[in-house]
Amino acid sequence: MTGSKQRRDPRPLPKKLLSPVAKGGSGVLRFGAGILANSSIALDWLRLKYLDYVPRPDDIFIVTYPRSGTTWLQMILYQMTTDGEMNFTHISEVVPWFEQSTLHRRNIESLPSPRAFKTHLHYNGIFSIPKASCRYIYMIRNGKDVLVSYYHFYKSHLGYKGTFPEFFKRFMRGKVQYGSWFKHVAQWRANPRRLNILYLRYEDMLRDPEGGMREIADFCGFDIPTEKWPVILERTSFAFMKQYELKFDPAIEVLWQLHGTRVGAFLRKGKSGYAKEYLTPEQEAKFEQAFEKWLGGTGLTFEAPATATPANPTAPVGSAGSKSG
Ligand code: A3P
Repeated sequence: MTGSKQRRDPRPLPKKLLSPVAKGGSGVLRFGAGILANSSIALDWLRLKYLDYVPRPDDIFIVTYPRSGTTWLQMILYQMTTDGEMNFTHISEVVPWFEQSTLHRRNIESLPSPRAFKTHLHYNGIFSIPKASCRYIYMIRNGKDVLVSYYHFYKSHLGYKGTFPEFFKRFMRGKVQYGSWFKHVAQWRANPRRLNILYLRYEDMLRDPEGGMREIADFCGFDIPTEKWPVILERTSFAFMKQYELKFDPAIEVLWQLHGTRVGAFLRKGKSGYAKEYLTPEQEAKFEQAFEKWLGGTGLTFEAPATATPANPTAPVGSAGSKSG
């Protein structure tokens, strides 16, 4: 080398140092992705609250902290405002979950009046309930029962692997999906903006469902014909709703919202031979070719009644006709 300084190749960083750097890098990326995802949720939310949601005076918000009887109220409102038929896929189809509706691009404007929405939104804060001249029904449940019910829900639906004592600490710190139960209840009860709220207790509804439902009907201004009451009471009973549990299960709600999954299409027909109505002659031929290749020598056929038992699957099954028709 003449005059100029020798350029040294950068030495590779020792692994010990590299790993935290790499980790830091991926942490930064994750942080960035988190911010983007959160800001997209925030934007969606602001759009819903200030643009998409146009309040109507007869709107009804069912407000609860999760596991306080929200679904029960959804069903009560549905039964009171419609013919009450059970031909919906999920209750959210007819009584939408307000804060989830933008996420799934639900057109809440197209819903007929009176609209009822479920929500778990807090009273105060950025992601808080729209304050409108409509009706709000706030159902409160004993926080200890909420805690236990929520723990089971975390385990059954959210993959929670922790113990009950761990969940207890989380709940008490408000480190669960919808934050602090205490704060939720305290703010909604304080109601500084004087919203039109009917307060109900889950325990009172259990003790006297008809009394509670009549309060709801009065509050909402529903004139329910006498002969409809027994039907409403029957269909909103725990036993009836348990029979139709999938129509209330949030796991099905997610499938329906994201993929349009329709429950009741799994056990489809229970008959044989209808593939003929679906396959073109070319598809039939291709299938037969493959069948011949893989199963041609086995004597398997689906035309004649089977003579083999599952215990003897290699015995010839029937004889004549197309092998797979
Ligand atoms: P448990 O887990 O104690 O059984 P949410 O809908 O807000 O998530 O609340 C769920 C709780 O409400 C569950 O409590 C559920 O059993 C209860 N619930 C739902 N439908 C009910 C009904 N018809 N009568 C009484 N409780 C009902």
